[in-house]
Amino acid sequence: MLLWDETIFSNGEVLEFDYLPEYFAHRDSQMQALRFSLKPALRGMRPVNCLVKGPPGTGKTTAVMKIFNEVKEHTDNVAFVKVNCQMDSTRFAVVSRIYEQLVHITPPSSGISFRRLFEKVIKYLLDSNKTLVVALDDINYLFPEGHADEVMYSLLRAHEQYPGARISVIAIISDVGIPYSFDPRVGSVFLPEEIAFPRYEISEIADIISNRVKHAFFKDVVSDEALDMVVTYVERTGDLRIGIDLLKRSGLNAERRASKTISVEDVDKAYEASRLLHLCRNIKSLSDHEKTLLGLIAKDNSLPTGELYKSFHEITGLGYTRFYEIIEKMHVSKLIDADFSGKGMRGRTRYVAPAYDSEDILKCLE
Ligand SMILES: Nc1ncnc2c1ncn2[C@@H]1O[C@H](COP(=O)(O)OP(=O)(O)OP(=O)(O)O)[C@@H](O)[C@H]1O
Ligand SMILES: [Mg+2]
Repeated sequence: MLLWDETIFSNGEVLEFDYLPEYFAHRDSQMQALRFSLKPALRGMRPVNCLVKGPPGTGKTTAVMKIFNEVKEHTDNVAFVKVNCQMDSTRFAVVSRIYEQLVHITPPSSGISFRRLFEKVIKYLLDSNKTLVVALDDINYLFPEGHADEVMYSLLRAHEQYPGARISVIAIISDVGIPYSFDPRVGSVFLPEEIAFPRYEISEIADIISNRVKHAFFKDVVSDEALDMVVTYVERTGDLRIGIDLLKRSGLNAERRASKTISVEDVDKAYEASRLLHLCRNIKSLSDHEKTLLGLIAKDNSLPTGELYKSFHEITGLGYTRFYEIIEKMHVSKLIDADFSGKGMRGRTRYVAPAYDSEDILKCLE
């Protein structure tokens, strides 16, 4: 039995989402490709732009952050900034985040134009003679509302307007099967090194998970059966994040019943919560209006589109264009299924339905 001050976690921190793992295996070729691309920065040259892509939870963000840390040890002439595009989803928000990380001052959210703020960023780079590497993480969130091109364009063509400015971009795409493309004007300056992060093999998942278990828990806390089960669940989704979350929740479940070991039932129970992880992560990033619309769709998934718009308009006062934009954004993030026969044309939307169990959506919306 577990006493109140006893725990089965030897170092629970390694199960947190923002933990950067020391053991990062099975990604050697991707790490090497990133290293080669950044190397020119050590000689004051502009690094090669990269396009990093792969399904959720395959180590993309982790790889880029580890490489940033590695290169930082060799030079002070390069500034590395990561922008989470799910949170900062406009050109202004992206450049604000860059400014904040460079200068360590949060710029005002209004009263200053994009251009003025961007010029401040450039001035900082020129004055300090630094190269800027921007990782646009989860850039797929910038596509639906058309911000991806303008963000990329501003960053990649900066040197034309401000000679001497050196900026390169690592675009990270969490590939959930939605097609995307950049404007040809962006394409002609982006010319990235493409680095693919495929799903892990089951043996790789087992290796990574069991290593994490070794660091997170005391010896013999996780049985082989419980471990196999976690690995099976990860294999099913392809997302390692779910495995790490499962370990944490299973451990907490075991502690709740004052057990010194994690049972198969603890893992099973934890899976209920972990499986909603993707969904809740997506939903939490929505604006209030977007949540309202998703709630309406989940509550009554056979509502004709016209009716749906009417209810949405009554609650929010927003017009059809905004309604349609939100539908499209949620379609791209795979929260809803929608079938359009004509792009953006009034009355052409045939149907909209939740892509997940309505109850699960409503649970995340709570
Ligand atoms: N090769 C690996 N070794 C150890 N841990 C890993 C490895 N790959 C991924 N992880 C872990 O899995 C989790 C998810 O990884 P990460 O956030 O890098 O995925 P991602 O590809 O950026 O996913 P998303 O597309 O959803 O943003 C992290 O907690 C990370 O520590
Ligand atoms: Mg990521």
